Amino acid sequence: MTAIRPVARGPHIETPEEAQERLRREVHAGLRANPKTLPPKLFYDDTGARLFEEITRLDEYYVTRTEHEIMEAHAAEMAALIGPNAVVIEPGSGEAIKVRVLLDHLENPAAYVPIDISAEQLARIARELTEEYQTLDVIPLEADFTRGLCLPELPDTTRNARRVAFFPGSTIGNLHPPQAVALLREIARIVGTRGGLLLGVDLRKDPTILHAAYNDARRVTAAFNKNALVRLNREFAATFDVDRFRHYAYYNPVANRVEMHLVSLETHEVVVDGERIVFEQGEPIWTESSYKYSPTELEGCAREAGLVLRRMWCDHRQWFMVAFFET
Ligand code: AVJ
Repeated sequence: MTAIRPVARGPHIETPEEAQERLRREVHAGLRANPKTLPPKLFYDDTGARLFEEITRLDEYYVTRTEHEIMEAHAAEMAALIGPNAVVIEPGSGEAIKVRVLLDHLENPAAYVPIDISAEQLARIARELTEEYQTLDVIPLEADFTRGLCLPELPDTTRNARRVAFFPGSTIGNLHPPQAVALLREIARIVGTRGGLLLGVDLRKDPTILHAAYNDARRVTAAFNKNALVRLNREFAATFDVDRFRHYAYYNPVANRVEMHLVSLETHEVVVDGERIVFEQGEPIWTESSYKYSPTELEGCAREAGLVLRRMWCDHRQWFMVAFFET
């Protein structure tokens, strides 16, 4: 078995206090803006992460299931395109579940570099994957990829290895297109020449299907959305009454995105971290955008970022796409 590497720390890693302070500023700026907004990362505290897990198992939420089907069906071909001895880099690796399908098919991967903000989680998955894939060199990096991408120092054994980023889950859909292009450009930069990107993206489709996916019958998505307010109450001494807000999610086919909002049911005032925020009856807080792409649009965004589409795989309903790009 390969030695278990310690978690490397990227540049400008914030202390928990600094990260919380930055979140506080973002929340204040968002609630003062017109329309009011909150950043989607606010969803993912422990409760929110659990609710999202539950969403991925809902009948209506086809996203996670469909991507998994595509990966299972085509991983061998993906691995063949990536080739032997690759360094696989995953920004926002989380529990590193999806990458296993890929690792199972790759020929002698040189290294796996999971990048995430939880050092504890990284240490755990480094231990697990090193054990599971006896010859795999796992090089975990603690860094916040939303604040710029970087790589840890890579061992000599990987000097000539091809670098390939893995960015599944349609996470890219949370970004407005210009920001998505900026992130793709960052990815192109870190994988360098002869680099690759395997990207999972949700596709444009019948709005009824999209509507159902973000308005599930069991109201798990509503609870997920409202959890942002529950978190503000706990972490920023806010006074939100979640029953005074309606979960409202709809697909906008002109802007190509599902928008999630929390709409105030009456005119009232809320205190957030000492500041009074007035809500008019019917006024929204825009909590998330989830962009849906056409293959051509995505190819265009990637090209702008210096990435060329080599191959794409879809499910039989063409609801989701996994695409492979090269620099
Ligand atoms: C994790 C951003 C891919 O946009 O579908 C699920 C988050 N929001 N239900 C998505 C989400 C509401 C999800 N992403």
